[in-house]
Amino acid sequence: MSTSVEIETDEDCAISLDSLTMLYPTKSGVPVRALDDVSLKVRDGEFLSIVGPSGCGKSTLLRIIMGLSRQTSGHVRFGATSSTHHNQLGMVFQQPLLLPWRTVLKNLMVSPDLHGKRDDNTRARATELLRMLGLEEFAGRYPNELSGGMQQRVGIGRALMHDPRILLMDEPFGALDAMTRDQMGLDLLDIWDHDRKTVLFVTHSIPEAVLLADRVVVMTPRPGRLADVVDVPLPRPRRLENINTPEFGEVVMRIRKLLDSEHSAH
Ligand SMILES: Nc1ncnc2c1ncn2[C@@H]1O[C@H](COP(=O)(O)OP(=O)(O)OP(=O)(O)O)[C@@H](O)[C@H]1O
Ligand SMILES: [Mg+2]
Repeated sequence: MSTSVEIETDEDCAISLDSLTMLYPTKSGVPVRALDDVSLKVRDGEFLSIVGPSGCGKSTLLRIIMGLSRQTSGHVRFGATSSTHHNQLGMVFQQPLLLPWRTVLKNLMVSPDLHGKRDDNTRARATELLRMLGLEEFAGRYPNELSGGMQQRVGIGRALMHDPRILLMDEPFGALDAMTRDQMGLDLLDIWDHDRKTVLFVTHSIPEAVLLADRVVVMTPRPGRLADVVDVPLPRPRRLENINTPEFGEVVMRIRKLLDSEHSAH
């Protein structure tokens, strides 16, 4: 079964996934089917959350879009073109993967340094991002001097350094406590509101998925397919108080039901 979500015109489309299938080879010779015939159009500037049971292929999906893994079959297209522009992409991992011997500012400068672009502009950009992320006082500190939430902010800053149009986030707040996590989500929305990047946000938290997103992609257990794509018709800007509204509860319930029915169907 293939689930395809059509949008109006190709100009609105940031990423188009066409029948993506991913088989991982194994030692036993029987490949693991991680993704099965996933088709989806992601709108330019939308905030899209992705939820689904562990092992259903969420990380695989982001890694394929990022170009870190190669799909077995199917296509990924960016915008109206079929060419990939990897400089348009930024990725935030569950663990921030910072370089412990570099200061916070220098961690943001890793990619510019590698590409020989260590100039005043990139430095100014890094400083501006740290200000936006509430970390300007920590520019000269080392990662082990920061809390988990602060380290994750640095990871987000690093992904934003080259001003990507598309931000891929794989459970970025998974390791954080609930309160820090809520605050990080709202901070992320502020950043998103600023220049409306296209965001793909993988999370295990249904309320978090709903609070942040315009639409929530619900995946089936492995092999991951799209069970449905659920609209989140809540006004913006979003606030934590939204969680207590009946509309919010309805969307959460709808996603829970989808996940439950997919789970029991397997
Ligand atoms: N490099 C690999 N080689 C073999 N199998 C893999 C590899 N990476 C992932 N898999 C398998 O593919 C399936 C999907 O993995 P993936 O990491 O994409 O799931 P996920 O939805 O991100 O799970 P989680 O929510 O636990 O992070 C799993 O069954 C996993 O064991
Ligand atoms: Mg994963």
